[in-house]
Amino acid sequence: MILEATTPSGHTSELDEFNPRLSAEARFDSAATKLRLDDGMQKVLRTPSREIIVHIPVMLDDGRIEVFTGYRVQHSIARGPAKGGIRYAPDVSLDEVRALAAWMTWKCAVVNIPFGGGKGGVICDPPLLSDAELERITRRYTAEIFDFIGPEVDVPAPDMNTNEQTMAWIMDTYSMHARQAQAAVVTGKPITIGGSRGRTEATGRGCMIVTDQALRRLGFDRASTRVVIQGFGNVGGMAAKLMSRAGYKIICIIEYDGAVYNPKGLDIPALMKHRAETGSILGFAGGEDMDKNEAFFLETDVLIPAAKENVITSQNADRLRTKILCEGANGPSTQLADPVLAYKGIFVIPDILANAGGVTVSYFEWVQDRQGYFWSEQTVNDRLEEVMVDSFQAVMAYADKHMVNNRLAAYMLSLDRVAQAIRLRGIYA
Ligand SMILES: NC(=O)c1ccc[n+]([C@@H]2O[C@H](COP(=O)([O-])OP(=O)(O)OC[C@H]3O[C@@H](n4cnc5c(N)ncnc54)[C@H](O)[C@@H]3O)[C@@H](O)[C@H]2O)c1
Repeated sequence: MILEATTPSGHTSELDEFNPRLSAEARFDSAATKLRLDDGMQKVLRTPSREIIVHIPVMLDDGRIEVFTGYRVQHSIARGPAKGGIRYAPDVSLDEVRALAAWMTWKCAVVNIPFGGGKGGVICDPPLLSDAELERITRRYTAEIFDFIGPEVDVPAPDMNTNEQTMAWIMDTYSMHARQAQAAVVTGKPITIGGSRGRTEATGRGCMIVTDQALRRLGFDRASTRVVIQGFGNVGGMAAKLMSRAGYKIICIIEYDGAVYNPKGLDIPALMKHRAETGSILGFAGGEDMDKNEAFFLETDVLIPAAKENVITSQNADRLRTKILCEGANGPSTQLADPVLAYKGIFVIPDILANAGGVTVSYFEWVQDRQGYFWSEQTVNDRLEEVMVDSFQAVMAYADKHMVNNRLAAYMLSLDRVAQAIRLRGIYA
């Protein structure tokens, strides 16, 4: 199904549908219009506050010198330091980093943590690089952006193809330049050097908490709730593990090479063990293999896309057979899919709320690092639950008050919070 829908420029095409910047802008425009934000405020909120481009010379293992391009975009610092991941990929572009930085601003505002939004990236192909080359890229990139990041300025985190080791290198490089250990400059670090307990599970746990809230609102209970999850990595794997432990029936897991299905509910720890041993979820004795495209449209109560962006589009949204859509991934639904989801009455928990558990525990990590006092895992989990439940309720209150869908409500809530901060602070100069 192809729907007529408009982008900021007033027209759209199938190509535009997959552009993250246009997708973010389309949602921004709807929320800003509904909030009746004046033109000046819209200009401020729409424009990144700072964009940094660095060209990084790096010695490769064979002695050749290569120059890599890196970006760091700070979209907003109105509510606190910029916050957002750094990704390494061949197709990183300034436009993509800009869109992702804006998303971080809205996400941090939805969960009401005192951060703005930022994002970074380096154009490189990690599978083609050795660990030593990745370390040199990371250290030089950090040195180049040293003046623009810091615990009170901009706090990076892992994203696509970066991990806790990358964060450890950034923390070390930054600390060497600062002449003192500065754990709070990045989050997502190993626990031994200032990482937080509970961070690895945080995004999946957050998905479960908001799904619990949706069940309460819709009058369902966990034991009779079927769940299909796309992506068995950090977000999807942790959501599957925690939700099955809590009593949900995980009937299908979808990976890039196929899906595994059991209508009675999969044994998730056993499936994890099977994947660790064989390298795939396929061939699992506790379920049957299934075509991954069919699996996405199984009849279920909850669908959690937790793999990648643009998987629910104007072309396929009408085939979904779920009651609740909990967006674990960033940007899994395109803006042209939104009206179809609304028409079908699917209860959407939008990405900027559903997967915000990760950045929330990153915030906890930053707080613990600055205090030099580390919390138990139970404390982290309890505080995460409080933030996610409050945020879910705040989004629902906006949806009810303004009679808008959940995604628009989440955007309106976050734009409103950022706009309020800017109004209170005033425009300097
Ligand atoms: N990790 C976090 O804390 C976090 C926080 C917020 C948002 N996210 C978002 O969640 C998504 C997943 O992130 P992650 O950290 O779990 O990544 P990950 O790499 O750990 O896991 C992704 C999984 O999806 C699978 N996959 C890839 N393409 C697929 C496809 N076409 N069909 C089915 N499975 C596919 C991969 O094989 C992998 O197992 C991304 O959109 C990411 O931006 C992650």
